[in-house]
Amino acid sequence: MAKAAIILAAGQGTRMKSAKPKVMHAIAGLPILGHVVAAVRGAGVSRIVVVSAPSMEEMRGYVSSLGAENAIQDRPLGTGHAALAAKSVLGDFQGALLINNGDMPLAQSPMLAESLASAETYGLSLVAFRPADPAAYGRVIQNADGTLDRIVEYKDATPEQRAIDLCCAGTYSAASARKFFEWAGRLENNNAQGEYYIPEVPLIARRDGVKCTITETDEITVMGVNSRAELADAESQMQKRLRARALAAGVGMTAPETVFLSHDTVLEPDCHIGPYVVIGPKVTVKSGAGIKSHSHLEGSEKEGPVVVGNGALIGPYARLRGGAVIEEDVHIGNFVEVKKARIEKGAKANHLTYLGDARVGAGANIGAGTITCNYDGFDKHHTDIGAGAFIGSNTALVAPVKVGDGVYVGAGSVITKPVEKDALAVTRAAQKEIPGWAEKFRTQKKAEKAAKKK
Ligand code: UD1
Ligand code: CA
Repeated sequence: MAKAAIILAAGQGTRMKSAKPKVMHAIAGLPILGHVVAAVRGAGVSRIVVVSAPSMEEMRGYVSSLGAENAIQDRPLGTGHAALAAKSVLGDFQGALLINNGDMPLAQSPMLAESLASAETYGLSLVAFRPADPAAYGRVIQNADGTLDRIVEYKDATPEQRAIDLCCAGTYSAASARKFFEWAGRLENNNAQGEYYIPEVPLIARRDGVKCTITETDEITVMGVNSRAELADAESQMQKRLRARALAAGVGMTAPETVFLSHDTVLEPDCHIGPYVVIGPKVTVKSGAGIKSHSHLEGSEKEGPVVVGNGALIGPYARLRGGAVIEEDVHIGNFVEVKKARIEKGAKANHLTYLGDARVGAGANIGAGTITCNYDGFDKHHTDIGAGAFIGSNTALVAPVKVGDGVYVGAGSVITKPVEKDALAVTRAAQKEIPGWAEKFRTQKKAEKAAKKK
């Protein structure tokens, strides 16, 4: 049967105290909404409608970029009212419907697929869970046969009802989208918050003789994000999941609890990640590569992804930014920053260097303190370093500039003109030597000091 989904995201998220809509806050580098859409799609849902508030124009752009559809809830009158707003988009869609809170970043496809499947059998289903701290979640009251009697929102619950530990996750499925809209259309708002609650839909369905089953899941998968503290908590849970996935795939990690990954990080089997490494979006680390402690790797939309090739060694304390392409067996050492630069096979930049908008040829050796001066305050310029070149320490390469294959550049040079293949380029002033100068200087200074003391 065809499946559609409604993701509720029109709430202001006031507890976040942020100008940004709640579901646009990122977890592992991806907006919460992106995680939810991916999980829903993975459950075999073909049409996804995201409900937003009129002011959330930017979010609608993001929704379109995900290949989902937009619906607008004109006023925030509650989750039931929000779900109904999707009717204008789904029309008389003939198929099953999943309704999911937009603030559930750890949602997983199998749990959503199970909810849809059980709705197909019984008409309606609810996902529930037993959190260690049931806090302000809606409480689930069951019939003797285990089906749903009703959900009571925390604010409407009596002390006895608040003592119930089974909670409403904010995931619902209906075998018929058409029926669901019919039921949601009959919701009333006579409750503590004066809102139309989705959790009351099962009560209305029952009048039509439709029972609601309950599928239970763990509390992490369905945790909702309502505050900054819960956002941080969800991030920590997502990191645990990403690390566990990497370890299971054969990635070595000395201290996984100190490594931070992104939703799209690609770590090939047999690469190794040392302690305290932070990996932002768009990063691939290939087999045999090693990222040593305290390194920071982060691709960017504008400059491109970061790729660390087979057998390359990065860090400790290295920084790879957008467009850093590190080929096989390259060494990038401590306090080296690479941005939009291709470092070809076997090249080395081991200490205190900035390589930006550059190509470093195979086997080249970049001395400590080398800087590609790529920016003139207006434009970025390219530096090209040939294969096997040896760049002496503390060299400034003023781009645009090209250094040929096999060139030697003397330490401390400022290179502004192209250097031909196999030449030596050196721009420092000639060394002068004055014999005995230092000894004379010391004797004079000591005498001055002694005279002052008297
Ligand atoms: C909701 C449930 C509660 C459940 C909990 C699970 C209701 C009334 N309560 O509570 O039973 O235990 O989720 O996390 O549904 N939204 C709109 N329009 C609105 C109001 C909300 O689109 O008018 C969206 C929000 O953006 C959010 C989702 O619906 O993504 C849930 O709203 P939220 O305010 O977070 O509900 P909770 O109080 O967490
Ligand atoms: Ca919530």
